[in-house]
Formats: sequence, structure tokens, C-alpha cells
Amino acid sequence: MSTKEKTIKISYKTIQSISKLPEMDKQLLDMAIRASERAYAPYSSFKVGTSILLEGGIIVTGSNQENAAYPSGLCAERVAIFSASAEYPNRIIEKIAVVSKDKNGQLRPVTPCGACRQVLYEYEVKQEQPIGMILVDENQTLMEFKDMQSLLPFGFGKDQLV
Ligand code: THU
Repeated sequence: MSTKEKTIKISYKTIQSISKLPEMDKQLLDMAIRASERAYAPYSSFKVGTSILLEGGIIVTGSNQENAAYPSGLCAERVAIFSASAEYPNRIIEKIAVVSKDKNGQLRPVTPCGACRQVLYEYEVKQEQPIGMILVDENQTLMEFKDMQSLLPFGFGKDQLV
């Protein structure tokens, strides 16, 4: 048996500033920023906001919710996506923005943790349509991913449960 090394490619777009985004994405980002201000993060002081654009222009938001029993808290992404699915179970999820702000109000980089990626991927598989994602990198440049699979290659999905 021969051993092979394989490479996978992840592509995403970069957008220099919020002002360069289409109107809908600007609004999505703005809602995520406002959601981050509603985070309950007394233990980490790391406030994260997520906004989710559903078909028909509905936006659902979430923020991280911490707990004195640390593992009982939940990231902003899962708060938002569970809320969206609970409220609008059959609406297509189009795009998700995730942001965090520092004490000076500057956007800082935040990328979803592994557990959130797995949860977000579940909904992409369920709806059989890509879920886009807008993130911010360390230079405050926006990063746009076309689907969750790009953020979670080899994700575990229902097709493997056979
Ligand atoms: N957190 C999020 O809400 N989303 C992320 O993508 C990364 C981390 C939260 C969890 C915890 O409340 C705090 O940020 C510090 O980890």
C-alpha cells in the first residue's frame, strides 16, 4: 500500500472595510455588533455577537451567555443558530456574521470554535444549501466564507450515521 499526501484548499474573500459591503451585509454586521453588546460575559469579558440572515430578510441575533459553572455557558453562534432554528425551523439560513469588540470599540478577530462549527455545519447539511459566513481578521479586514464546509472540512454529518 502506498502512502499519499493530499492537500485541500480553503478559499475565502477579503473585504477591506464594512463600507465596501453590500447593504444587507452591512446591516447584518451592524446587528452582530449590537448583539455583542448584549453578551453576558462576566467571567471572560470577551463579548461576542452573532447575527443570522434568514431567507426573506429576517435577522436573528445571539450573544455569548456565560455561567458560574463555566461549561454551562454557550457561545454566541450557538445561541443565535439554536434560536433561529427554534423560531423559524424551516427557513433557509443564508449568512452568519460573527464579531467581537475590544474595550475601545474596535472589532477584533474571532473565529467560531470547533463545537460551533459542527453545530452550524449540521444546519447546512439539513437545508442542503450553503450557509455563508462573515468574520473579521486580526487587521480588521472582513473575511467572507461561502459555506460552513470551508470552515469545517471533514465535518461529521448525518450521512455518516448509517
Ligand atoms: N465565544 C463565543 O461566543 N464565540 C466564539 O466564536 C469564541 C468564543 C465565547 C465563549 C466564552 O463566553 C467567551 O467567548 C470566551 O471564550
